[in-house]
Amino acid sequence: MKTLFSGVQPSGIPTIGNYIGAYKQFTELQDQYDSYFCIVDQHAVTVPQDRLKLRENIRKLAAIYLASGLNPEKITLFIQSEVAAHAKAAWMLQCVGYVGEFERMTQYKDKSRKQSTKDGISLGLLTYPALMASDILIYGSDIVPVGDDQGQHLELTRNLAERFNNKYNDIFTVPEVKHPEVGGRIMSLNDPTKKMSKSDDNQKSFISLLDEPRLAAKKIRSAVTDSDSEVKYDKENKPGISNLLTIYSSLTDESIPSLEKKYDGENYGTFKGDLAGVVETFLTEFQEKVNYYLESDELDEILDRGRDNASRKADKMVAKMERAMGLGRKRR
Ligand code: TYM
Repeated sequence: MKTLFSGVQPSGIPTIGNYIGAYKQFTELQDQYDSYFCIVDQHAVTVPQDRLKLRENIRKLAAIYLASGLNPEKITLFIQSEVAAHAKAAWMLQCVGYVGEFERMTQYKDKSRKQSTKDGISLGLLTYPALMASDILIYGSDIVPVGDDQGQHLELTRNLAERFNNKYNDIFTVPEVKHPEVGGRIMSLNDPTKKMSKSDDNQKSFISLLDEPRLAAKKIRSAVTDSDSEVKYDKENKPGISNLLTIYSSLTDESIPSLEKKYDGENYGTFKGDLAGVVETFLTEFQEKVNYYLESDELDEILDRGRDNASRKADKMVAKMERAMGLGRKRR
């Protein structure tokens, strides 16, 4: 069976964009692969975090993964910092990476621009993609389902894998990226030319998966739309309504052309009102499942099992990497 890996940062509560771009794909793909899902807390500390909030978010994120429909009996769900192999392999991959290729990462450029005015830029923010490559490569992953914004990091992962294979020993699988057909980039509700992000300062720009459902519905009703009133998908000229159509289609599995037909002749108000209802129902049901996991002992058992499973597999690859690079010693 082929292997799948993906991760989400506990740097805030995931948004409906994360759900559509990532979790929904995870659930759809889990049966076809030996699947590893990770709460990448070491990535989150590349920018400042409140320590108590971070721990709270890590737990919530675990419950959110499960509430999305992952089957804990089949998949491996774990916390990155609990599996030492990730940081070990990241160091080795940093040593095959070049500063220039890391400096070219768009996410580094964006985040460092924001960070430099506040606290200075951490070195971890620059080397972050080596840790991400390590996450993926130590499981021998064949496929990595992610939203569109992670494409560049995946390309670097593939380059690092190939370079390591050529330079030392052919041990890594070069992974394929998988973006969702619809919803790989859900946009901000108040500026549909910008990606929806859980770390946006403006709370109205995103819907968090733990937003009070009625508040989320309100955010949909007040989302920025375009100047005319036709419910039609046109990403270039009507980014607002196109984004809302994408959200609607992803949450209901009704295709965009079929939604356009349904709302032919209707105005934005009717459409947004219906979508607000769809979002409210979705979040109500979703949060019931999140609360179930947050209150059950199962959560820790799943994470303990996940840590042990993941370590067993990842340690083997780290040993191969060390051998390939000549680290450590050979016993007599
Ligand atoms: P993160 O935590 O920013 O996002 C988690 C996942 O959600 C997707 N996503 C979106 N999809 C659609 N629309 C949006 N507006 C949107 N915003 C985010 C992301 O593409 C991602 O799939 N570096 C990664 C975490 C990571 C990882 C990995 C992923 C660390 N190691 C290894 C895959 C494999 C990140 O910051 O994702």
